[in-house]
Amino acid sequence: MSKCPFHSGASEEQPPPGHPPVENADVNSSEPACPHLRKVAAEKKAASERAEPQCPHLRKLQADEDQAPAASSEPASWATATPEEFKDHFTKAYDAMSAHPKATKDKAHIASILMGYLGYTEEELAVIGDDVQLMQGTGNPHILAKIKAGETVVDLGSGFGIDAFVAAHKVGESGRVVGIDLAMNEVNAAIQRTSTRKLRNVDFRLGDIEAPPMADASVDCVISNGGFCLVPRKAVAFEEIFRMLKPGGRFSISCTTSTKDLDPSLDWPSCMVVFMPLRTVEEMLSKIGFVDIVIDTSNSSMTVWEDAKAKSEKPIDDDGAKITIHKGESRYAFLKNMDMNEFFARVNIYAAKP
Ligand SMILES: C[S@@+](CC[C@H](N)C(=O)[O-])C[C@H]1O[C@@H](n2cnc3c(N)ncnc32)[C@H](O)[C@@H]1O
Repeated sequence: MSKCPFHSGASEEQPPPGHPPVENADVNSSEPACPHLRKVAAEKKAASERAEPQCPHLRKLQADEDQAPAASSEPASWATATPEEFKDHFTKAYDAMSAHPKATKDKAHIASILMGYLGYTEEELAVIGDDVQLMQGTGNPHILAKIKAGETVVDLGSGFGIDAFVAAHKVGESGRVVGIDLAMNEVNAAIQRTSTRKLRNVDFRLGDIEAPPMADASVDCVISNGGFCLVPRKAVAFEEIFRMLKPGGRFSISCTTSTKDLDPSLDWPSCMVVFMPLRTVEEMLSKIGFVDIVIDTSNSSMTVWEDAKAKSEKPIDDDGAKITIHKGESRYAFLKNMDMNEFFARVNIYAAKP
């Protein structure tokens, strides 16, 4: 251990007068005795471990070596975080991620196999095209949504706009699609894609799923793919869906839910804390007034990429890529050996407004 010649104590907040600048010190070789050098070493270590964005919970491909930066603000424990803290955190995480979309041919290949496994049709995949590699969803809301020509559709947590573009194709020139997302960078990226695609029947708005900028009874169908899961107050968000739907309208959302109580002695990541318990969904929807409730758990595995690969008729060369959850975050190291299927399930939820 190197001794610091400028002071002997280990608890000083500030380096003593005459202490050389520590910011660029080489702290890699051994643990320095100097508390200021130790702080620099700890910060460098934390930065190198913070390799993945905080909460894109399903589809991080291990092959992405240079990851998006982590969200900057994390409370000491998500178990006691406020709705605003969750939203602020997700906004920063997705804003950061949209600056690093990591488009590669390999990723496009893997993503299209994955989306085929999730039930996207050939026609839908053709509409999505190269944007397939920007997919961040957890399932396929279109299967139950059955969007028709001329309808008004809202996509909650629209991200880069992939499902909104599929919906825009289905509603045609006489219909309209609005994507709503909390992350400005994702909204801007989706707007840019809209103009590249020369679409006139879709627009994207900055907004919160808990307070969507849509008039009462103005929407035929609400879809969401991976966005609704992240809302802290699910009942409020479902009430807002009810409010904006026309009578006879419906919603179809793909989201991850929790199937087991999380051990409160462990420090779970934000997204996992905020997932709604699957057992509460039906009652919550009935109370609000929804009817024809369907909770489809037929394709709910959390190891979706491994499953897709196993089912693929052609061998897939993914060069060891696999979907990981919070890999590389030392704070969540305990997740590494956990079976996510024991705790979480991806589901598709459908219900109608009478
Ligand atoms: C997992 S991504 C899914 C994106 C997109 N639906 C897709 O399938 O590619 C979740 C998205 O939800 C957005 N989001 C999270 N919480 C939100 C909220 N309260 N209101 C609006 N959008 C939200 C995030 O910014 C992010 O774009």
